[in-house]
Amino acid sequence: MSAVKENYLQGRVAVVTGGCGGIGTAICQRFANEGAIVYAADLRSNDETKENIYFQQHDVTSEQSAKDLFARIENEQGKLDILVNAAAIEIEYTIENTSLEDWNRIFAINVTGTFLTSKHALPLLRKSGAASIINFGSYDGYIADPQLAAYCATKGAVHALTKAMACDYGPENIRVNAICPGYVDTPMLQSFFGSSGDIESLQKAVRDVHPLRTYGQPDDIANLVNWLAGDEARYASGQLWIIDGGLSAQVQQMRL
Ligand SMILES: NC(=O)c1ccc[n+]([C@@H]2O[C@H](COP(=O)([O-])OP(=O)(O)OC[C@H]3O[C@@H](n4cnc5c(N)ncnc54)[C@H](O)[C@@H]3O)[C@@H](O)[C@H]2O)c1
Repeated sequence: MSAVKENYLQGRVAVVTGGCGGIGTAICQRFANEGAIVYAADLRSNDETKENIYFQQHDVTSEQSAKDLFARIENEQGKLDILVNAAAIEIEYTIENTSLEDWNRIFAINVTGTFLTSKHALPLLRKSGAASIINFGSYDGYIADPQLAAYCATKGAVHALTKAMACDYGPENIRVNAICPGYVDTPMLQSFFGSSGDIESLQKAVRDVHPLRTYGQPDDIANLVNWLAGDEARYASGQLWIIDGGLSAQVQQMRL
């Protein structure tokens, strides 16, 4: 008789910042399906009640908010195994058209938010014995989309921070990786499409530029996050995992 296979993340406790966004929601659901207890930490709730997914209002730019989040988890769970830093915003400007206020705001959310939430998670992650932090970079941290200057800069910073954290906490068996998606079908991408006059043509152009001829779905990203969160990825740390339908592998050729 074969043994019953346990769920991949059975007994694990996870926090997902931006957990009510497009990709964050898919990650929370996947973690819960795999047996984890999940805290979706976001500015706003998506108002859906799901088994083993708890909402915690959290502003990643606030140190007090991070302290409150982990005080609750310590009280309710006593440890933390997985932290996903997915909260972010995008602003679509060249540097000349970016105000200092917008520049500071996007860095506060995308970079300082990753720093603050990770910093205050560490005491509980140490209690895990085999913890995993998964940051959100982007293929925009490698190669630039036009008119996304500040966003690209924040994602490059998250990539460097990921490697630094992996060096510092690897000796305590805390793994740190970054996911670097290409285009994924979420409210963030819809708002990018929404700024164009002809949305259908833009969507088709975006699909056609990919070797796989499509952009990604949130579940495609959640699959990789799930693997990195658990023990099958126990030797994976300090890496930037591009998942983009082949987009960044391809030179954009002129059609001669
Ligand atoms: N969608 C894409 O094409 C794409 C591509 C590359 C990288 N990414 C990255 O993936 C991650 C998830 O993106 P998404 O597409 O799901 O975006 P999304 O806009 O759907 O979700 C982002 C979530 O972050 C939350 N958030 C914003 N500011 C916050 C704050 N101060 N504190 C707490 N939460 C806050 C929002 O409320 C929202 O729920 C982001 O880091 C994004 O940069 C997305």
